[in-house]
Amino acid sequence: MNQANKTIETNGNDESIVRSDAAIKPRKMHFDFDSVQDAYWYDGNAILTAYFTALSATFPPGEQEFIDSVRHYRDQITDPTLKEQVRGFIGQEAHHRHQHHQVNEVFDALGLSATRLEAHLSRHIAIQRKRHSPKTLLAATVGMEHITAILADHVLNHPDVIAPMPKAMQDLFRWHAVEEIEHKAVAFDVYHRCEGDRIHLNRVMKFQTLEFIIRSACYTLAILYWKRKMPSLNEISAAFRFFWGKQGLMRNLAAPYRSFFKKDFHPWNKDNRDLIANWKENTPSLA
Ligand SMILES: [Fe+2]
Ligand SMILES: [Fe+2]
Repeated sequence: MNQANKTIETNGNDESIVRSDAAIKPRKMHFDFDSVQDAYWYDGNAILTAYFTALSATFPPGEQEFIDSVRHYRDQITDPTLKEQVRGFIGQEAHHRHQHHQVNEVFDALGLSATRLEAHLSRHIAIQRKRHSPKTLLAATVGMEHITAILADHVLNHPDVIAPMPKAMQDLFRWHAVEEIEHKAVAFDVYHRCEGDRIHLNRVMKFQTLEFIIRSACYTLAILYWKRKMPSLNEISAAFRFFWGKQGLMRNLAAPYRSFFKKDFHPWNKDNRDLIANWKENTPSLA
């Protein structure tokens, strides 16, 4: 990132922090979700379809929680740039949850029980909100925003990940990925300004990661179970390659995931704004 777009400053603990001055623009989108007509819409593969459906199911309640946990601190932020970025972050996440809810209803109609999972996650989050402090809830959002940002980077750098999807789903995931990169530092900067406790943040991140992996696996299995679908051996081996193969998701995400725990970590230490620029260039009608 060049200096024109990077600000270095200190927080109350005299630690230097760095943040992006990039504009965060919510975009109102329209996707043709009615064109998604195959039940196994990811390459005919039941496991990978269930996985991406489960992921989509988590967004409406999950992203509402991201909004709520950041919004709690809004009045404590005096810096006008960060205040504006928080507004952009809330706007983008609100659009994401809306669009994913729309497609989740389409998945329901195909026999993939996405909104049932949305309701399950909403109940879980309501319990967590009563149990935990605003600081822990914000730390959990920071952790999930890092996971979302590295997933977004992977998806945009590996077009083959979403190429097997119907066009509307490709457009949805690309747009969502681009905006996750645009606002990837907002929750982190708010936490750093208002709380600044890295030890707590790292501890919450470890729990959050474990919970996310277990939840993704359980929701994927639930979709298959409710659909009464037993995947074939071919589907199992394709899914295994998708996650654990040489170019697989898990292998590719391991290093960027671990970067979170470095002492000088900041989301914009990795400058991937070229992915945003590419998307804008390739999809001017959406950008
Ligand atoms: Fe999002
Ligand atoms: Fe996000």
